[in-house]
Amino acid sequence: MIIESWKDKGFIDEPIPEGIDLKSEIRKMCKEKNALIMAHYYTEGEVQDIADFVGDSLALAQKAAQTDADIIVMCGVHFMGETNKILCPDKKVLVPDLNATCSLAESCPADEFATFVSQHPDHTVISYVNTTAATKAVTDVVVTSSNARQIVESFPKDEKIIFGPDQNLGNYINSITGRNMLLWNGACHVHEKFSLEKILQLKAEHPKAKILAHPECKGPVLKVADKVGSTAALLKYSIEDDSNEFIVATESGILHEMQKAAPQKTFIPAPPNDSTCACNECNYMKLITLPKLYNCIKYEWPVIEVDPEIAVKAIRPIKKMLELSK
Ligand code: 13P
Ligand code: SF4
Repeated sequence: MIIESWKDKGFIDEPIPEGIDLKSEIRKMCKEKNALIMAHYYTEGEVQDIADFVGDSLALAQKAAQTDADIIVMCGVHFMGETNKILCPDKKVLVPDLNATCSLAESCPADEFATFVSQHPDHTVISYVNTTAATKAVTDVVVTSSNARQIVESFPKDEKIIFGPDQNLGNYINSITGRNMLLWNGACHVHEKFSLEKILQLKAEHPKAKILAHPECKGPVLKVADKVGSTAALLKYSIEDDSNEFIVATESGILHEMQKAAPQKTFIPAPPNDSTCACNECNYMKLITLPKLYNCIKYEWPVIEVDPEIAVKAIRPIKKMLELSK
């Protein structure tokens, strides 16, 4: 049963039956349906807590490639659901709200990227995983923030490379590898907004704090960071490092897992340059809520579909990434 109004909205807004224990009902349905809930670190804490698996975008793709679940429920953004569907074409892949897109993926329309690629026929095309399936389809190898350096360095020093869509990550990889990749000028609306000035102000107030930054942040923020890395790498560093205080320049959802793993430590979310908004939150990730997750598993909708012609092209660069990251 799929109701037309759900299609218009992109999610199911059925009221939750009164008196039910949402969390145990979700777990019960997962067992009955052999469904696996995966969540990205940027989702709400209660969504992360109910998931079977929480990870960064590389770990989520690796997990999808291995699971024997019949249904994958991706609590994250649309491109993550697409990646899972491409890797598992015979499984049902669900994302609780189709409006959960990604500003970075949207900053790289596939047709414009394909034109750019065709203008540089002698270049190898490396795309960040935060892209639509159609953009991946014109890509040679996909990367995430976990493996971008390793994969770029797997090519000869003089390889001509196009890197898209995140120019901040691209600039960062150029700076640490000495490459001169041609960059697409996309960016993430969350990571672009961190204020260097406010981070330095925080650092002055907490001189012992280490600064952690995701490579989607702008160069000046990355320059002052003690650790630059993917969400999983920042989490690992925060657990293993001796410091007790951390200023965290990435989406604030990661603080949930950091605080859980090291409750005795203090994690300070880096402020955005606009103090009037919660711009260090990804509004797309935060669309995934427990009630939507409940309805999504119950009605097995919204389903992620990928055009088979695009999927056959997009699977090659994704598989290449998984092989190179083993
Ligand atoms: P990770 O690859 O670190 O999980 O990052 C994904 C993302 O969307 C960052 O904004
Ligand atoms: Fe996309 Fe930015 Fe949200 Fe990550 S934080 S999913 S890059 S919009």
